[in-house]
Amino acid sequence: MRNVELKARDPDPARTLERALELGAQEIGEIRQRDTYFAGARGRLKLREQETDARPVSDELIEYSRADSTDARTSTYRRAPVADAAPLREALDAAYGAVVTVTKRRRVLLWEGVRIHLDEVEGLGSFLELEAVADPESDLAAEHEKVERLRAALGVNDADLVATSYADLIRDLGGAAAAAEGRPDSAEELLRAAEAVLRTAQVRYSQFPVGAALRAPDGSVHVGSNVENASYPQGQCAETSAIGALVAAGHTRIAEVAVVAERMDICPPCGGCRQRLAEFASPDTPVHLGRPQGPRQTTTVGELLPLAFDFEPRG
Ligand code: THU
Repeated sequence: MRNVELKARDPDPARTLERALELGAQEIGEIRQRDTYFAGARGRLKLREQETDARPVSDELIEYSRADSTDARTSTYRRAPVADAAPLREALDAAYGAVVTVTKRRRVLLWEGVRIHLDEVEGLGSFLELEAVADPESDLAAEHEKVERLRAALGVNDADLVATSYADLIRDLGGAAAAAEGRPDSAEELLRAAEAVLRTAQVRYSQFPVGAALRAPDGSVHVGSNVENASYPQGQCAETSAIGALVAAGHTRIAEVAVVAERMDICPPCGGCRQRLAEFASPDTPVHLGRPQGPRQTTTVGELLPLAFDFEPRG
């Protein structure tokens, strides 16, 4: 399935509702949804538990991929109905780790085949989503045109457009709260672990110590440093050592990465390590480069290695 969709903060949901109704949008109803997002899967995976006052709706598992962008963007997804959500949520949490939960009240309207979502998201506030579901053979031009027309009619400002998911916004909120309370956020904690292990680096030939720390989906941290060899090509990078430690601890997925080098502020992983990380991470797995309390740059595995080699195409 494919969508063309747009998300924006909504400073005045009552006015948006009024405008949508004036445009002839049809009110479908209100739905309460709790989405649990899981780490470490190949694409993005969420379990949606939902209820309405009117017709019964089934819970569902949704796999999706979408590039972060404020433009109306295409997302591809698969939905699978779920009969009993609680045990599935527990199983996925045990296997992959639940990273964030998004709870919202969604008012759904329909205008010329475009779904209008008026969302009240717990902890985040009011948002508007426009979603045009595309026919399988569509070139998406008509869907983009409709979403743009509706966006203009509803008066959505550029400044209110949102590029990321509710899950990302809530995760950012967690980081900001940690900083406000003087607690290390997740990136800072991982950078500290990477810096600590850097002291174990075996770097007789390069004198270039590197430390890497990987978070597994259960929150545990696994570290490694670079280990060089008199036969130079046999040396291995810090990231590679850390992947070995993570795998030896029984994990097969990477949820977050940090790399610290003693003699370089921002040490980007080498090409080979990007491919090794991609094997066990998702394209949106965060990669923190820098130092604890020092310069820091956060990127993702997908940005570091677009079009990573794999036997199956990635989302
Ligand atoms: N190195 C790493 O361990 N990780 C990186 O991301 C870049 C390079 C190591 C390999 C070698 O031991 C030393 O740094 C100099 O290239």
